[in-house]
Amino acid sequence: MPPLSAHQLRLWWRRRVAALAVALLAAAALFFSLSRYAAAPPAAPKAPSYGHRLPTLVDITLVHAAKDRGAVCLDGTPPAYHFQPGFGDGSHKWLLHLEGGSWCPSFKSCANRKQTNLGSSAHMDSRAEFVGILSDDPSQNPEASVSGKQSWIELLSKGLARAKQAFLTGCSAGGLSTYIHCDDFRALLPKTPIVKCLADGGFFLDVEDISGRRHMRSFYNGVAQLQDVRKKFPRCSSDMEPGQCFFPREVAKAITTPMFILNPAYDVWQVEHVLSPAGSDPQNLWQDCRMDITKCNSKQLEILQGFRKELLDAISEFKNRRDWGMFIDSCFIHCQSMNALTWHSPVATRINNKTAAEAVGDWFFGRREVKEIDCEYPCNPTCYNAVLDRPYKED
Ligand SMILES: *[C@@H]1O[C@H](CO)[C@@H](O)[C@H](O)[C@H]1NC(C)=O
Repeated sequence: MPPLSAHQLRLWWRRRVAALAVALLAAAALFFSLSRYAAAPPAAPKAPSYGHRLPTLVDITLVHAAKDRGAVCLDGTPPAYHFQPGFGDGSHKWLLHLEGGSWCPSFKSCANRKQTNLGSSAHMDSRAEFVGILSDDPSQNPEASVSGKQSWIELLSKGLARAKQAFLTGCSAGGLSTYIHCDDFRALLPKTPIVKCLADGGFFLDVEDISGRRHMRSFYNGVAQLQDVRKKFPRCSSDMEPGQCFFPREVAKAITTPMFILNPAYDVWQVEHVLSPAGSDPQNLWQDCRMDITKCNSKQLEILQGFRKELLDAISEFKNRRDWGMFIDSCFIHCQSMNALTWHSPVATRINNKTAAEAVGDWFFGRREVKEIDCEYPCNPTCYNAVLDRPYKED
């Protein structure tokens, strides 16, 4: 087995965070996000494949008809998705994946996205690699089958509605969208016996950053105001700031569909953007630590352990839900379902000797109750910890 080089992981990480996004909260966007069958990141991981074959390349499909409903990308191009037809057993099993890519909280930052795959289907890759949870290679995805046989128009109107199993997943901003839209997805498929959702790396925390401010809440306030999405959260009380309604801790309370929370305790994206965001660290004391957890000093590690406790506290009430699953590893990473190395391979991250893919499979098929919570960093030798070589810039 070739060892994973730090370079490859870094490369993967950079491409991954720089990768896609959108998934949104406006009403028009619901149609959009739900129409993105099995959408994959155009910039797929370049990490070594442990399968016996190369990742499947899947062509883009542009949804021209969506324009009539006003569902378009920021630059007016039609929404798009990547769809891989299933076969045999998989024909009635659907997996929809919502991509990540953060949010834009201002007109300026949204305008900047028009030149990128985050805001324009003209900038999306025409072919996407399906890896990790999207892979049809059993060596990196023990039980997923992506599916459907008909053309996409039929799938939109009929095929999905006839699904026997439907699984909505998403990572990062797409993970948050999964929390927000999981029950909507369930409602869309009243005849489907099994509908479940998995949010990967989307459990963003409403915590103070290292300067004592709630940067993430302010950021979400910007997104909420810009998109006027308050009405999407009727349960959100009026004495809360609009951005507060976005946090999974709040959103998840109302979810009635079975959910799986896949989240690292030291999510790299959150360490950089929630815990030590730009402006919170004028002396740049966190510069090394936020890019490589092995460079954190003892004081910073203490803060990271506090961050982990905040996550465990936030999810604690969901531990009592028997039909919910969780896999909270103590790795420094983000979006673990989108790469064979973090999803499933002989050298993948494990908790109690189970990979994320095995834990999710056990939960999805009801083989056992899955509540995997890892011990504190650095206890897990199977972790893949990301190493970034430069800060990730949002815009
Ligand atoms: C861990 O799981 C692998 C298969 O995934 C198995 O071969 C191995 O024996 C297990 N190890 C332990 C300690 O249970």
